[in-house]
Amino acid sequence: MNKSMSSSLNAAIEARHAGYQSGFGNEFASEALPGALPANQNSPQRVAYGLYAEQISGTAFTAPRSHNRRSWLYRIRPAAMHAPFERIDNGQIAARFDEIDTSPNQLRWDPQPLPLVPTDFVAGLSSMAGNGAVDAQSGCAIYVYAANQSMTDRFFYSADGELLIVPQAGRLQLLTELGQIALEPQEVAVIPRGIRFQVQLPDGHAQGYVCENFGALLRLPDLGPLGANGLANPRDFLTPQAWYEDREGDFKLIAKFGGNLWQARIGHSPLDVVAWHGNYVPYKYDLRHFNTIGSVSYDHPDPSIFLVLQAQSDTPGVDTLDFVIFPPRWLAAEHTFRPPWFHRNVASEFMGLIHGTYDAKATGFRPGGASLHNCMSGHGPDAATFEKASQSDTGQPHKVVDTMAFMFETRQVLKPTRFALSTTTLQPDYYQCWMGIKKHFNPEQA
Ligand SMILES: [Fe+2]
Repeated sequence: MNKSMSSSLNAAIEARHAGYQSGFGNEFASEALPGALPANQNSPQRVAYGLYAEQISGTAFTAPRSHNRRSWLYRIRPAAMHAPFERIDNGQIAARFDEIDTSPNQLRWDPQPLPLVPTDFVAGLSSMAGNGAVDAQSGCAIYVYAANQSMTDRFFYSADGELLIVPQAGRLQLLTELGQIALEPQEVAVIPRGIRFQVQLPDGHAQGYVCENFGALLRLPDLGPLGANGLANPRDFLTPQAWYEDREGDFKLIAKFGGNLWQARIGHSPLDVVAWHGNYVPYKYDLRHFNTIGSVSYDHPDPSIFLVLQAQSDTPGVDTLDFVIFPPRWLAAEHTFRPPWFHRNVASEFMGLIHGTYDAKATGFRPGGASLHNCMSGHGPDAATFEKASQSDTGQPHKVVDTMAFMFETRQVLKPTRFALSTTTLQPDYYQCWMGIKKHFNPEQA
């Protein structure tokens, strides 16, 4: 490698990691002022710069070391300092998922339109489906969001679960207690349970999806026979550097707690953490870095091969939540129906489309839209996709391009909310995509 190539490569690496630390579940450390981070202890009698020391635990104190997550924050004021919380209107956030009997019908939605009135990220959240229970620390809530206003004087956290944010349109600037994350479509971010943050909209508008995970913290899956590398590689997960603001005013702290929204007055920005260390952190991941593994012989593999992150249950091999993506990739399987096959699963599947088209649906599944296929409900390619793929030449590899779909896959049935079943974006004729499937059966011809 010559000198100019080396310097440009270093510049690219520096740019990519500007403001971030690399790795998944690492012990990170960061300070925005020199010497703010105490050396060799967590809670000194007096912290540098007059800061307060505070721990935030994301797992039980006694969780095994491999699962234990906590961070130590050194901040201008402790998190306890705010007026009492009072209930506020939930908007379109569902506190529970048993309001309406869940049908086994396949469901699909068009994209949620942008709001007509000023709406920030929190006000723009609409619950689509969920399962489990916050109290049981198991299950999840799935939202779409549509917003056109940055948060300025409101700060938010969820005590109910970590938030997996999947932008579809418009960039997000996530200002968190532990630093800032710049997020664009085809990247995802995770904000841990309890971490306070604001969402700003650099493009003035934003739409996307959120999965609130009530269960065990999201983690990278084991790789089994794949070996030591592949799927989402740990070094591609980025955690911000310490950043703080020393800002006073008449602000609101919004908590999601027990399924509902609560609001407290707070006289300062809670984004006042000057230094921190630990492994309970927000992070982002660029889905375009996913190392996609697939068949180079025959048959479409099970979609677990596309697993990015998982929330494990107490039953080995059974997750309460899987985050799965369908990125651009080569299809090379011979004498094989190459798109996803027809299937019924014990798991329940909520899908979204971030970019382009999805290879099992020729039309109707639009970027920003969503579909829900619940436990044992039959689904698969639509009629047009089946006819095309069953006739295509499988002697040559084919590249699926211009696509990025994802799935929140759950152990328990996903129960659509009243909002999801009454919104005008629900497609009443979705089932028709399979009703045109032709009968090809001929007992005279093998
Ligand atoms: Fe499926």
